[in-house]
Amino acid sequence: KYEKIWLVFGLGSLALFLLIIGFAAFWKGTHPQSHIETIDPQNVEAHESFKPENLGLREVADGKYIVNIVASAFNYDIGSDDAGKPVKTIRVPKGSTVLFQVTTKDVVHGFQVAGTNVNMMVEPGHISRLETVMKNAGEFTVVCNEYCGIGHHQMFATVEVY
Ligand code: CUA
Repeated sequence: KYEKIWLVFGLGSLALFLLIIGFAAFWKGTHPQSHIETIDPQNVEAHESFKPENLGLREVADGKYIVNIVASAFNYDIGSDDAGKPVKTIRVPKGSTVLFQVTTKDVVHGFQVAGTNVNMMVEPGHISRLETVMKNAGEFTVVCNEYCGIGHHQMFATVEVY
């Protein structure tokens, strides 16, 4: 008798989960990696967003920013400062909207800004985009969460929200 109750309970929860997934996928339009644009990994500079002079942070409107980043083993290229030194820190005011645009020259990397909801796979031949609002002040470490080789742990940068 109890077995029957558990069976109904089990099948019931399964049906419920499928319903929720179906709802998320079709009704709300949740799709993995929906903002993908192709790019030649051997020649990322040919794309306007990834020209060396366009890398890094740019304010496009009041409180709205775009960050262009080229990942490669084992570095995040966020452009250079006036002295020609590689930029390793992005600074944005609290509450700003930031669009991260990341591509890779070689293998798959995992672009993650620890402590925020920014976490996306970066695949060769594609541009990964994610827009977020930086609600909390603080220093957030950009890491690579996809093993990409011997220097995987050296891929880092910082996002400073002030
Ligand atoms: Cu790049 Cu791990």
